[in-house]
Amino acid sequence: LANGLAKTPPMGWNSWNHFGCQIDEKMIRETADAIISTGLSKLGYTYVNIDDCWAELNRDDKGNLVAKNSTFPSGIKALADYVHSKGLKLGIYSDAGYFTCSKRMPGSLGHEFQDAKTFASWDIDYLKYDNCFNGGSKPTERYPIMTRALMKAGRPIFFSLCEWGDLHPALWGAKVGNSWRTTGDISDTWESMISKADTNEVYAELARPGGWNDPDMLEVGNGGMTKNEYIVHFSLWAISKAPLLLGCDVRNVTKDTMEIISNKEVIAVNQDPLGVQAKKVRMEGDLEIWAGPLSGYRVAVVLLNRGAQRIAITANWDDIGIPPKSVVEARDLWEHKTLKKHFVDKLSATVESHGCKMYVLKPVA
Ligand code: DGJ
Repeated sequence: LANGLAKTPPMGWNSWNHFGCQIDEKMIRETADAIISTGLSKLGYTYVNIDDCWAELNRDDKGNLVAKNSTFPSGIKALADYVHSKGLKLGIYSDAGYFTCSKRMPGSLGHEFQDAKTFASWDIDYLKYDNCFNGGSKPTERYPIMTRALMKAGRPIFFSLCEWGDLHPALWGAKVGNSWRTTGDISDTWESMISKADTNEVYAELARPGGWNDPDMLEVGNGGMTKNEYIVHFSLWAISKAPLLLGCDVRNVTKDTMEIISNKEVIAVNQDPLGVQAKKVRMEGDLEIWAGPLSGYRVAVVLLNRGAQRIAITANWDDIGIPPKSVVEARDLWEHKTLKKHFVDKLSATVESHGCKMYVLKPVA
């Protein structure tokens, strides 16, 4: 969407994956504090996004959405002011239907212009727009109304389409929003995570600066996967130019989680200005090679082992879009090492079960 936002995929945090409906303003403020004190904001994590369950069941007598008094007594504008005072941005959630998915809040269908104005008056920076209880009408009719409403609201607001891929928002999302879901909801397991990455990959050609495919938010740090599996999760999201929206409790992150989500070199692949989503360029049994171009003639590569045994994986220049005979310097993004040897025609590595290697390859001759 040409609203000047999302030149690179959005980065930040969202309440849903870890907290569900157990949210309140104190936790959101503490999260903003933690994003600063952990150094995550300096790495680019700037959106603090409130998901479902922030509002009262009923609108006020003028039809306005109101924050739930028991959990957000200071109101959303005060929270936006707080978050902005830290240099961060505030995101909120609504639904292109009559109720939100939790059914604890009214949706925005029929109230788009009023709600967009409310969000702008609260200085909101990001809207996630869900798809529950929509009465069966087409998303291609409902979502663009909110796009127009946001355009009129007088404030640039990142617009995240949360139609779960059923009606292929990737095919129509670019004119409507800044990101669009390609999948149903992620859960904190290897199978779920890898299946979201697979489904999202199909739409790779449709991602571009201003509009990104969204395989759902990160589960890194929520405890359901091994460290290697979370490294795969973060690597695939980064190379797929997916939104990097943390879904853990950032007030309590372990050293391992921090090491993963603060990997600057992997983040730089995600935020590369070229903005081209990687594709699977080879699949053989349990091994996969994902690759995509970066600025400066470089190429990002993930060598992925989906199986139970350790395996050797070889990436040929031919598969990954490097000209034949190129001499290539390889940077290992998880070891933080530039390999001593230069490579001609191919690069091989041994990859652990449910693990990956991630490189940036740079032709030097
Ligand atoms: C469905 C969405 O896909 C989730 O990310 C989350 O926003 C829930 N709805 C909230 O009810």
